[in-house]
Amino acid sequence: MAFSHHSLLIFALCILYVESADPSAQLCNENSNTTTPEITKNIDSLLTKLVQATSQSGYSATSFGTGQTQVFGLAQCRGDVPSKDCSTCIQTAAKEIKTICPNRVDARLWYEYCFIRYNTKKFFGQVDTGYGMIYSNVENVTDPETFNRALGALMYRINTIAAGPASKGIGTGETKLSDFVTLYGLSQCTRDLSPFSCRRCLEIANGETFCDNKKGCRVIYSSCYVRYELYPFFFPLDDQKLALESSLRTTHYSSVVKKP
Ligand SMILES: *[C@@H]1O[C@H](CO)[C@@H](O)[C@H](O)[C@H]1NC(C)=O
Ligand SMILES: *[C@@H]1O[C@H](CO)[C@@H](O)[C@H](O)[C@H]1NC(C)=O
Repeated sequence: MAFSHHSLLIFALCILYVESADPSAQLCNENSNTTTPEITKNIDSLLTKLVQATSQSGYSATSFGTGQTQVFGLAQCRGDVPSKDCSTCIQTAAKEIKTICPNRVDARLWYEYCFIRYNTKKFFGQVDTGYGMIYSNVENVTDPETFNRALGALMYRINTIAAGPASKGIGTGETKLSDFVTLYGLSQCTRDLSPFSCRRCLEIANGETFCDNKKGCRVIYSSCYVRYELYPFFFPLDDQKLALESSLRTTHYSSVVKKP
């Protein structure tokens, strides 16, 4: 494990997780500088650029301004999300991030469908697993040995896809645990990462002990994201999968914040 229990701050033992418009996680880095009027102006322009580019291609990493007031930004949608939903998500995120983090130069905001981040320091290409948010299903699996073997194999397979050059950072897959039970997984890296860095990030995420033996879990980092569930959750979702999702989806998750 990459971090000790001392760095964990359990603030909600059991929350009602709703896949709604609410952010999944947010970070207004207290250790970062406060904004100045010039930086705030550049952040506004940066966000406009990010929304425009990300709505079109699902990803953007860019900067605005020069010198001390230059700001760097990255925005990315979950790679399976339809472009209309991506666009809606990133517009909301760009609007909310300034309200949520009004005065910090290092701000990050995660939704289920998209992620947005800016900083006056250039962060592109760096693996960042320091801050994290983890949601785990409160229920334990009944047969950990079989489950973990299947989960490990699935994650290995989809991590390889996610880190591959043609996949735009995302890997999805499923594996049958029995005639009636299927395990679904999704791995994603921000697209500024190299294949090596992507794989490293995903492996650290897969090692989060808060997920151990849980029926479902999602690990949210600044550089990558992993999620697995015993119901379908990623697109494309046909009618059959939607029916399965609504019948099997649980709303009871525990959450934990991992701090650097
Ligand atoms: C704060 O700003 C100063 C001057 O621009 C810079 O040298 C320093 O690295 C910044 N600190 C952080 C934590 O970003
Ligand atoms: C799941 O397993 C953990 C560790 O063995 C245990 O502490 C916890 O009570 C279990 N949770 C449920 C809902 O059974």
